[in-house]
Amino acid sequence: MVSTADWIDLTGKVAHVTGGGKGIGKAIATALAMAGAKVMVSDIKLETAQETADEIGGSAMALDVADRSAVDAAMHNTVSRLGALDILVNNAGLYLGYGGPVEDITDEMWKALWSVNVDGVFYCCRAAAKIMKEQGKGGRIINLASTQAVTPGVGVTYDGSKAAVTMMTKALALELAPHGINVNALAPGPTWVHGGEPPLIDGQAPVRTGLPLADTVADRISRLPAGHWGDPMEQGKAAVFLASEMSSFVTGIYLPCDGGWLTL
Ligand SMILES: NC(=O)c1ccc[n+]([C@@H]2O[C@H](COP(=O)([O-])OP(=O)(O)OC[C@H]3O[C@@H](n4cnc5c(N)ncnc54)[C@H](O)[C@@H]3O)[C@@H](O)[C@H]2O)c1
Repeated sequence: MVSTADWIDLTGKVAHVTGGGKGIGKAIATALAMAGAKVMVSDIKLETAQETADEIGGSAMALDVADRSAVDAAMHNTVSRLGALDILVNNAGLYLGYGGPVEDITDEMWKALWSVNVDGVFYCCRAAAKIMKEQGKGGRIINLASTQAVTPGVGVTYDGSKAAVTMMTKALALELAPHGINVNALAPGPTWVHGGEPPLIDGQAPVRTGLPLADTVADRISRLPAGHWGDPMEQGKAAVFLASEMSSFVTGIYLPCDGGWLTL
């Protein structure tokens, strides 16, 4: 009899995780490897990608997702080195340092963030979809969105980029469903990726994170129903769900993994 463990098992699958050198990407790469997948970890910083790969028994490569031709080569490289491309996780993203009053946001800041958060996701989806269609055995694409796709607070540059990722996800899900390729957005809530212990959430005053977040965001964090910052591995668990047989009939969704943020 098939067990639910079989549905979670990713043995025989090949995953590529962008921005996997640290934070949520590292946790997702680790979780996919724990479920049995062979994982290609890419990052703009090769040394961090290599560290993750060494820890999880995966492979590593340098990749700037904003570089279109490098993305095409990296997806083909994944196939030539690991034998296939079954799961793509578009995790690489920028957020700190691109906010502030709209009049202070320069063209360079806008373009720098969108080239990674939006162009990069598009380039990777395009390259992977072509390969997955040619392979003819379906596939999974998971795009990292954010609660900021639907509740603004980090700034027009970032919030807009994640809303774009969310609709790109739905459009691609519609287009690729006939090929058995499920495309979903995973939307993390506040997830502590800065090292050390996360600040306590005491429900009293806005949490002093030291991060340049809008007051609305700090206030929401202080009232987060889960009462604590998310751990990156909580995103890893959600990614395994979206990458596995457990979500075979799930496509085009925006899945908040947010400790209740969107209930506020
Ligand atoms: N941490 C959170 O609370 C949170 C909340 C919502 C959404 N997210 C999203 O989750 C994803 C991961 O966030 P994180 O907090 O782990 O970020 P992080 O900054 O800790 O890690 C991002 C990783 O991406 C890499 N990277 C940056 N630019 C790149 C590029 N051009 N090409 C390839 N790699 C690049 C970095 O080197 C780094 O290893 C992002 O898309 C982010 O927007 C995070």
